[in-house]
Amino acid sequence: MSAADSTDPGLQNLSPVELDAARGQLPEWARATPPRRAHMARVAALLEQWASELQLGQSEVLRWAAIGWLHDALRDADPRELRAVVRPEERELPGSILHGPAAAALLEGQVDQRCLRAIRYHTIGHPSLDRMGRALYLADFLEPGREFLPDWRVELRARMPGELDTVLMEVLATRIRHLLDSRKPISPETAAFWSQLATERLR
Ligand SMILES: [Fe+2]
Ligand SMILES: [Fe+2]
Repeated sequence: MSAADSTDPGLQNLSPVELDAARGQLPEWARATPPRRAHMARVAALLEQWASELQLGQSEVLRWAAIGWLHDALRDADPRELRAVVRPEERELPGSILHGPAAAALLEGQVDQRCLRAIRYHTIGHPSLDRMGRALYLADFLEPGREFLPDWRVELRARMPGELDTVLMEVLATRIRHLLDSRKPISPETAAFWSQLATERLR
């Protein structure tokens, strides 16, 4: 039995959309191919595992699973359609990162604000991300179905969730280094995410 099937009074904290998502049931506007849904399932499973190991309580465990399912709900939609639903200041974002802000826009009022922030910024990061948002950023990168750098990612997964912020800095440093090496732009949100983590480390 999954955590989403039991009857805990704490579950009243969760919205119907969050409860459905924790069971792998996506909103009808989702646009995700079967391989994409398999990725979302792996991300959700990793998040559920980490939240359980952190002993966060049942409703929070379900919320972590729900954002794993929801984060890429629009990953296979046409970017032109996504531009129509995001905030005006997000319309010029590259097509590959529009799906987070677009899903957050459609989920507004139906999931809590922490979930919206985690989903909106799961691709580029953001200094405002809390532990749940940081975990989504990592689970998306570390889920076992991805093929790049398998040994390194196995080692990082083994250190989760206990070393979340240290692992996050390693992953973010690697991703920023890749952007630098390939002469690609670094979004202000990503740079600010790095600065936030580095500042916390010095405290
Ligand atoms: Fe994504
Ligand atoms: Fe993803």
